Amino acid sequence: MFLKKLFKRTAEKIELHDIQAIILRDRPLPYHGVNVFLEILHTASAKAFLKEIVPYVTNAQNWWDNDNAWLSIAFTYEGLKKLELPQSTIESFPDAFKKGMAARSEKLMDINENAPEKWDAVFKTAGNHIAVSIIAKNMDDLNSKKALALQVLEKHQGVKLCFQADFDTPIEGNFNHFGFRDGISNPEIEGSGAEQLNSKERPIKAGEFIMGYNNEAGNYYPMPQPMEFAKNGTFVIFRKYHSHVAAFNRYLKEQAKNKDEQELLAAKMIGRWRSGAPLNMCPFKDNSALGADATKNNDFDFSNDQNGKLVPYSSHMRRMNPRNSKMAVMSDVNLHRIIRKGVGYGPALPNGSTKDDGKERGLYFIAFSAKAMETLEFLQREWVNSGNFMSLKNEKDPVIGLNEGKGTFTLPGEPLPKRFTGMPTFNTLKGGMYLFMPGINAIKWLSEL
Ligand code: HEM
Repeated sequence: MFLKKLFKRTAEKIELHDIQAIILRDRPLPYHGVNVFLEILHTASAKAFLKEIVPYVTNAQNWWDNDNAWLSIAFTYEGLKKLELPQSTIESFPDAFKKGMAARSEKLMDINENAPEKWDAVFKTAGNHIAVSIIAKNMDDLNSKKALALQVLEKHQGVKLCFQADFDTPIEGNFNHFGFRDGISNPEIEGSGAEQLNSKERPIKAGEFIMGYNNEAGNYYPMPQPMEFAKNGTFVIFRKYHSHVAAFNRYLKEQAKNKDEQELLAAKMIGRWRSGAPLNMCPFKDNSALGADATKNNDFDFSNDQNGKLVPYSSHMRRMNPRNSKMAVMSDVNLHRIIRKGVGYGPALPNGSTKDDGKERGLYFIAFSAKAMETLEFLQREWVNSGNFMSLKNEKDPVIGLNEGKGTFTLPGEPLPKRFTGMPTFNTLKGGMYLFMPGINAIKWLSEL
């Protein structure tokens, strides 16, 4: 069920009524949705569109509300310029946001197979200005919210629909295209009223994720000015990945003798079994009851596995959140957390198939942070495409690293570690952009400028 957290009204200290729901709430399960990108042809028309659509933007206030479809809105830098914000506001955005994700590709190590030149055409245009996303519990609710948004859009000829992408839970039960339960671990945010069920982690200051609140260092990250405009907003990372599921299945079969060994290797690469059960809580065999139990499946740190024998340091989960691991290159883990709300797209490949059917499938990786650009650049450079932080030289993340057929993956072992080689890139980047997701009052302000 989707109310997996504990909620405490008394613990709410941030302005949930002004924060867009998608940032804080868990996705419905199963989910169905659509991402739409709009181009602004005429400023006045775009403002009128925003004025009319803003009452439908869902806020994060009533976690337990039975809202069946949430609508959210975000803007690219080009879009904000088109809306003719005051020059001082336009200039106050961080540089990486102004330049955009494609222009920062070297810093993000989005090169070779992942380079912007290889991206889908829609991500190469400057015409993506406004992103509207709807996520719903079922197709009926999705369709009625979509119809409503379209009605509003049709009235405003100065805003053109340029890209629409549907998405759906890839495999029943919230499993992604590789067959793993997804969307399990997210940070607990101080003052949000929702308690994560990880007794080993403390809540992180809201300012790490939402603008206008103190961050871990007790101050604010650079944010657009004035503060009234930035307050309750955040930056969004949007990346489209094409998942090579058949190649993943083939790799498992080539590297491991039998089904059990293949499953173990797959689990080692992620850090969890397919059910979502963490490897350090059940190292030898999947435990589907644990994997499905949201009160237990994220309640751990790595105290029982400081040498990575259970959950390899190189696994995707441990790289992306080393928790209390002792790293060769020290870093404050809480400063690199992101809120993830990625969604799958495309039809599932038949279970275990090693033949690619040529269909497009993958993940729209969507994440939120008050310093999203800086965090993504850090993650991509230090924890995804390098192994230095855990003394594995140039070994890369087995799930999202740019491995290009030359990747290695190391399992610590006695007397020698076990090394898998010749790993391809299992997820290639097909596009991406940075967006600013304002608070709801800020969208009103924008529409009335
Ligand atoms: C198609 C690409 C990807 C796949 C298939 C994938 C898959 C997964 C899976 C199965 C988990 C474990 C379950 C969970 O906690 O939700 C996970 C966790 C995670 N992933 Fe990914 N992921 C992908 C892309 C990314 C990207 C691009 C990033 C960031 C740059 C990322 C960051 C994370 C983080 C932060 C966690 C949680 C770690 C934790 O707190 O334990 N993932 N991912």
